[in-house]
Amino acid sequence: MSDSFKEVLRSVRESALKEIAQARTEEEVNQIRIEILGRKGKLTLLLRRVRELPSQERPWAGEQANILKTELEEKIEELLVRLHDEEKQRLLSQEQLDITLPGTPLLRGRVHPITQVMAQIVDIFTRMGFQVAEGPQVELDYYNFEALNIPRDHPARDMHDTFYFSDEVLLRTHTSPVQIRVMESQRPPIQIIAPGAVYRRDSDISHTPMFHQVEGLMVDEGVSFAHLKGVLTFFVHEMFGEGTPLRFRPSFFPFTEPSAEVDIGCVICHGEGCRVCGGTGWLEILGAGMVDPEVFSIVGYDPEEVTGFAFGMGVERIAMLKYGINDIRLFFTNDLRFLTQF
Ligand code: FA5
Ligand code: MG
Repeated sequence: MSDSFKEVLRSVRESALKEIAQARTEEEVNQIRIEILGRKGKLTLLLRRVRELPSQERPWAGEQANILKTELEEKIEELLVRLHDEEKQRLLSQEQLDITLPGTPLLRGRVHPITQVMAQIVDIFTRMGFQVAEGPQVELDYYNFEALNIPRDHPARDMHDTFYFSDEVLLRTHTSPVQIRVMESQRPPIQIIAPGAVYRRDSDISHTPMFHQVEGLMVDEGVSFAHLKGVLTFFVHEMFGEGTPLRFRPSFFPFTEPSAEVDIGCVICHGEGCRVCGGTGWLEILGAGMVDPEVFSIVGYDPEEVTGFAFGMGVERIAMLKYGINDIRLFFTNDLRFLTQF
């Protein structure tokens, strides 16, 4: 009897150790634990059979079965710890951070070329003592036209078609209304520039429905056309370089008299004549003139006492000339290939 018990014990041990040696996952080990040590496990059943043995064999058989039970429990526990460890290592190696992998680059924004040129213009004029004034983009017909000597049926309105909110309220078509607002609220001497967005019913390679202007206004006793010429010459030389030639060409604006348009020597062909300047060698950059006495009367200044000059330039036009850009719409299509060049 004890021999056969011994035999069974030996075969349970052998098959258990073999199974344990083959187990690859915690699940498999737990399955083996149940098969051997569970309530109906091989070893559990064997332990029960100890009771049925002759009394003199029981202590020895019980002892042997318990030794085996402890041995197998320890083996299983060891194996579980090892498998758990291996699984942890596997997961850790999967989660590895590759710090040599290039990151996703963050695109840094930059200042829009129009904003940059606007800032340069403002800087040049503030260095000459001009102060910055601002006015509303939604403007009254009175300031945009009437007070600038452009009555209802004046042909100059043709070039200034815009969006009307009502008969009296519109999107301003130039920055000149700021002249009127400033003169209404201050007495001379006045020396201001007014940068800002303006709107017109316009759209082609050199015109957009929204663009920017910088207005200039200087009013005092004895202000002359020579002052206008001096201020604009300084501006052109600062903006486009010392040697840049400029000329004043007679023109007409209802709110200035006399009026002029200012051209600079073509920045592309330097006066030779090319496609950009239409073969003339000159490019228009702004409109200007001496403030019309009629405008002074409208704002309550005495035209016998003060004189003044005004000018208005297109910022996009200045930026195009400065950077040699041939299509104004590039400024507004938000193409990063274009914008990142500035
Ligand atoms: C005026 O707007 C006058 N207020 C300028 C002025 C001020 C004259 C003070 C005398 C005294 P003009 O319509 O020419 O003038 O426009 C001035 C500049 O704005 C033009 O030279 C051009 O550079 C720019 N401009 C006009 N329309 C557009 C447009 N649709 N898109 C881009 N730029 C434009
Ligand atoms: Mg013009």
